[in-house]
Amino acid sequence: MSGRPGLASNAAPRRVATGAAPGKVILFGEHAAVYGRPALAAALGRGLGATVEADPDGPVLHLPAWGQTVRLRPGPDGRAGFESLPRAFAAALDAAGLHGPTARAIAVTLDGALPPSVGLGSSAAFAVSLLRALSAWAGAPLDDAALLDAAYSVEQVFHGTPSGVDHTVATLGGCLRFQRGAVPTFVRVPIGRPVPLVVAFAPRDTTGRDVVAGLRSRRDALPTVYERLFDAIGELTSAGEAALAAGDLPALGRLFDLNHEILRACGVSSAVNDELVALSRRHGALGAKLTGAGGGGAVIALVPGDPAPLLQAVGRAGHGAFATTLDDP
Ligand code: PMV
Repeated sequence: MSGRPGLASNAAPRRVATGAAPGKVILFGEHAAVYGRPALAAALGRGLGATVEADPDGPVLHLPAWGQTVRLRPGPDGRAGFESLPRAFAAALDAAGLHGPTARAIAVTLDGALPPSVGLGSSAAFAVSLLRALSAWAGAPLDDAALLDAAYSVEQVFHGTPSGVDHTVATLGGCLRFQRGAVPTFVRVPIGRPVPLVVAFAPRDTTGRDVVAGLRSRRDALPTVYERLFDAIGELTSAGEAALAAGDLPALGRLFDLNHEILRACGVSSAVNDELVALSRRHGALGAKLTGAGGGGAVIALVPGDPAPLLQAVGRAGHGAFATTLDDP
């Protein structure tokens, strides 16, 4: 052996494969999107990252941020709310071509600071970062088209038939306009200037599905009134797209405020959403709105100056918040 004393010159380097994906926010158009109007969604400047390495006791998935360890065999895994994780992990292993005990002798650590269950696309970031890392480990990285298909199948484990927005944004990044239809369409929308956001969040008082169902029954009782509200949101989405492309942050802020008020009229906001929007407006935001389904969950505030006063105010009110920036990928 020719190695210098004290150096393990023949030790194989530890092999790892990694993958990352961002969370998302809906900038304009949630709920109206269910009724065929366009909406804008954008990748957050934070998300999740996965690291794969060899482990003879695998497959095992460690999720330190969510306090979970997932094994495919039965065991004392998982708290309530995370029951789908073993099936989602298995679906991702299959989609990455990792079949059989030898290929699956791995440990995956998936970490990041994206809170789950508040409408920030955490399950899509989970799916896309995991698939990127697993397919890299398998030596056959998935291209975007294959990743979109595979991530949708993992998302279905969590959400049944999701709209497809979350995993599309997690895969492609940047800002996308989407429109539902027999085949949903996604068009890239340029971001003229980075958008400084504070995202504040609180647990939902209900599920996103129930918020959507509640609006459906109110809309069915008074269709012409609600369709007008959805038309107004659709117009705000188009105006928001123009303001985003022009880098006009004051206009974007005013449009956030207007969109939030219409969502309130639709009955999908909640006391905590309104509290977070009011705090934002008092602490330097050019505008703020709920993002996603509402009924609690997340709020976005456009804060071009120092975000610290708002972050502290949200913390004092007992809720979570972080500052991030939206930009082209
Ligand atoms: O809370 P999220 O991010 O899952 O957003 C739901 C968006 C809705 O428009 C309310 C529903 C939908 O499927 O488009």
